[in-house]
Amino acid sequence: MSLLHQRQQQKLPDHNHPLSGRAPAFYGLGQRPLSSFLFTRAALLPLVALLVLLGVLLPWSRPFAALFSSGSLSWWNSYTLAQAAAFAARNGTVIVCAVSRPYLPFLNNWLISVARQKRQDQVVVIAEDYATLYDVNRRWPGHAVLVPPAPDSQTAHKFGSQGFFNFTSRRPRHLLHILELGYSVMYNDVDMVWLADPFPYLEGNHDVYFTDDMAAVKPLNHPHNLPPPGKKGRTYICSCMIFLRPTKGAKQVMKSWIEELQNQPWSKKRKANDQPAFNWALNKTAGQVDLYLLPQAAFPTGGLYFKNESWVKETKGMHVIIHNNYITGFEKKIKRFQEYDLWLVNDHSDESPLGRI
Ligand SMILES: *[C@@H]1O[C@H](CO)[C@@H](O)[C@H](O)[C@H]1NC(C)=O
Ligand SMILES: *[C@@H]1O[C@H](CO)[C@@H](O)[C@H](O)[C@H]1NC(C)=O
Ligand SMILES: *[C@@H]1O[C@H](CO)[C@@H](O)[C@H](O)[C@H]1NC(C)=O
Ligand SMILES: *[C@@H]1O[C@H](CO)[C@@H](O)[C@H](O)[C@H]1NC(C)=O
Repeated sequence: MSLLHQRQQQKLPDHNHPLSGRAPAFYGLGQRPLSSFLFTRAALLPLVALLVLLGVLLPWSRPFAALFSSGSLSWWNSYTLAQAAAFAARNGTVIVCAVSRPYLPFLNNWLISVARQKRQDQVVVIAEDYATLYDVNRRWPGHAVLVPPAPDSQTAHKFGSQGFFNFTSRRPRHLLHILELGYSVMYNDVDMVWLADPFPYLEGNHDVYFTDDMAAVKPLNHPHNLPPPGKKGRTYICSCMIFLRPTKGAKQVMKSWIEELQNQPWSKKRKANDQPAFNWALNKTAGQVDLYLLPQAAFPTGGLYFKNESWVKETKGMHVIIHNNYITGFEKKIKRFQEYDLWLVNDHSDESPLGRI
């Protein structure tokens, strides 16, 4: 039984895959309602003046000013995580995902579900390559940021490779940076779909909130502390959905996660991803940090949601975020989402801030 490997099996397409092989489709801004207003002639001049002025006064509005002052995409090369977080934060909170180009359809699918809960404005997309940075910001200015150096896109995609490990290893650093800037942050993998707003479930004032990746059914009133270690001596907490408050405790967990990744570097034999290190970090900090396990019925692993029909029926109406893990392959993930009516990008792209991708 190696449950963790299920998550690791999120294989990315090779170069011949139709999705990754497609040329970048850059659309203009005109398709968004706000932008169509901006582009009406009467509104344009005063707005440009206002935005340029704001761009001087307020760092977060610079993306908009830049759009008018130059059409150059490379402007985004110097856009920082601090600027993106300041731009997107609402109530001191940002929602973050990390995406490379082959995952754009999943990003779009996830975003539609986030937009249905009216939380899309809070999203910061950490682009793992320049094509993604430009594509997202061209469609949705200010919401994507690239933290250099960009991982080598050829090596970053292959599951089990050192490049893949390096790519996932960047996550705790990004999250720590956001905490140090003073924001609360929710991290999501983009092979997730929101069915409801997760924020009301972040009860109390704990440092770190997370979900269990174990498929075993828990009682509805299960405890919210870190579960006991499993067969490998550690827990199977998912690094796919994490909420952190900007507290000493949450920062300590991120630092410990970074250390664990350094202590157990990638090796051909282990083919590690970042999740075991996250679990060791939780294990080592558990005594000093206030941890909170989110309810399984609201945040089930894919190993439960897609595999136990009777459980899904029993917990009907309680599900909040569905994670499409415990499956191998990019196309199989899409097919499964389609089968469960969770693939929204074909019929509902008008609900996405990115439009049709
Ligand atoms: C804003 O954040 C505070 C503290 O995290 C929380 O209690 C409150 O419910 C949030 N308000 C909204 C509107 O989300
Ligand atoms: C991964 O990171 C290590 C350490 O920073 C580096 O030496 C190595 O070249 C990287 N490998 C790839 C394939 O990105
Ligand atoms: C941490 O892991 C060790 C080794 O598996 C285990 O004995 C211990 O109970 C764990 N601690 C917590 C808080 O889970
Ligand atoms: C499926 O869920 C039911 C509860 O609805 C549980 O009793 C059963 O053990 C689960 N089956 C498996 C294979 O985990």
